[in-house]
Amino acid sequence: MNDRSCLAVILAAGLGTRMKSAMPKVMHSVGGRPMLGHVLDTATRAGSDRIAVVVGPGMKSVEDLVKAGHSASQCFVQQERAGTAHAVLAALGALEIPADDVIVLYGDTPLVTPEAIETVRRALAEGADVAVLGFEAGDPTGYGRLLVEDGRLMAIREEKDADEQERRVTFCNSGIMGFRGALLPELLDVIGNDNAKGEFYLTDAVEIAGARGLSVVAKTGPAVDVLGVNDRVQLAECEAVFQARMRRKAMLFGVTLVAPETVFFSHDTKLGADVVVEPNVVFGPGVTVSDGAIIHAFSHLEGAFVDAGANIGSYARLRPGAEIGEGAKVGNFVEIKKATVEPGAKVNHLSYIGDARVGAKANIGAGTITCNYDGYDKFFTDIGEGAFIGSNSALVAPVSVGKGALVAAGSVIVKDVPDDALALARGQQAIKEGRAASIRAIKEKTRSKG
Ligand code: UD1
Ligand code: MG
Repeated sequence: MNDRSCLAVILAAGLGTRMKSAMPKVMHSVGGRPMLGHVLDTATRAGSDRIAVVVGPGMKSVEDLVKAGHSASQCFVQQERAGTAHAVLAALGALEIPADDVIVLYGDTPLVTPEAIETVRRALAEGADVAVLGFEAGDPTGYGRLLVEDGRLMAIREEKDADEQERRVTFCNSGIMGFRGALLPELLDVIGNDNAKGEFYLTDAVEIAGARGLSVVAKTGPAVDVLGVNDRVQLAECEAVFQARMRRKAMLFGVTLVAPETVFFSHDTKLGADVVVEPNVVFGPGVTVSDGAIIHAFSHLEGAFVDAGANIGSYARLRPGAEIGEGAKVGNFVEIKKATVEPGAKVNHLSYIGDARVGAKANIGAGTITCNYDGYDKFFTDIGEGAFIGSNSALVAPVSVGKGALVAAGSVIVKDVPDDALALARGQQAIKEGRAASIRAIKEKTRSKG
């Protein structure tokens, strides 16, 4: 956003006891991605050159997440949880490398937007030494109150340390704070823990900086951007806000959502223009749907690519590695896994297609199954262009069906079928004239006796 260098410090060492979970709090997901992943991404998008993540001891999953996705980020372990200032100090190694702006964020505030961070960074660029993002709270309970006099931010008072009058203040600390980088270590150095919780409060930096005649400002942002998660009720609230944002974004981009509140997105769902999504559709991570495709009701997609004009569902399940070609059709109660369905092909009813290629314009009859797994290994099925697989066929992989070949209904195919051949692999039908009538007669007779 500007040419000032920026270090983001994300605090994520909290125990998250109220989540009642074996997993660190910041690893719980919103929109299919850990909360910390959202904050890392937002910090990057807001122009952070480096990111320091403060974690608790033994939070290996958090460290792995940080390492995996973000090369400019580094973890620091806060050995004991002694407050937000103490947590920032744990990242001293990062603070010692000069940065114009240091922005403190929380790992449990997943809805934070780049705009929120930019608001704070703009204040720093305009000359503030310390800038705090505040919000108007409907219910301020539990938040630090921003005490403003004559337009100047004098102090942040934590709930437990506030007097009655201060508690009535509804202008609250979001937790997002910006510091002139060179200043922060010396502020941290003098923050004490003489307060109700006996913790080192980062928020005390405001009063200390003010007393030194430095410029301290409060900015305002939307409350919804700084929703914090302490328990699973708040996690669900964040999810609801996140979903509402994704739906709105999709619709404004040109996607029709027939019943938006019933469609669930992942953070990375990509839908093209004129895509129609019917009610009760769930997008897991890694889905792209191209222009003009239709996703009918009650379908579940994950790790899948749907090309333009394709027709999915209703009740379709696309699993990771499903690639559906232009204008192809995947119908009801069809599961596709790690398989390519080429343009114009149809898999319309009750099928499982896994580890396979379905050639262009091939037609897969109802109930066809690719038998891809022998209990140990997976094998590939290749179905040629324009092939026709009769209903209720089992294709036992590894196997191929040639171009334009025909597989008779009810076949169990274990050998490759050449191009344009007919494969017929089922028991011979026997006809016993009149046998049904004679069986019936015998049965009727024994019943009347009984
Ligand atoms: C904090 C702010 C408060 C603000 C509120 C917004 C302080 C003193 N108070 O209060 O003004 O209104 O957030 O939600 O900063 N953390 C660590 N190590 C620690 C302590 C905390 O990493 O030793 C992390 C937590 O994991 C969390 C964040 O810092 O992500 C905030 O800590 P929390 O205990 O939730 O602070 P609050 O009491 O909510
Ligand atoms: Mg909190």
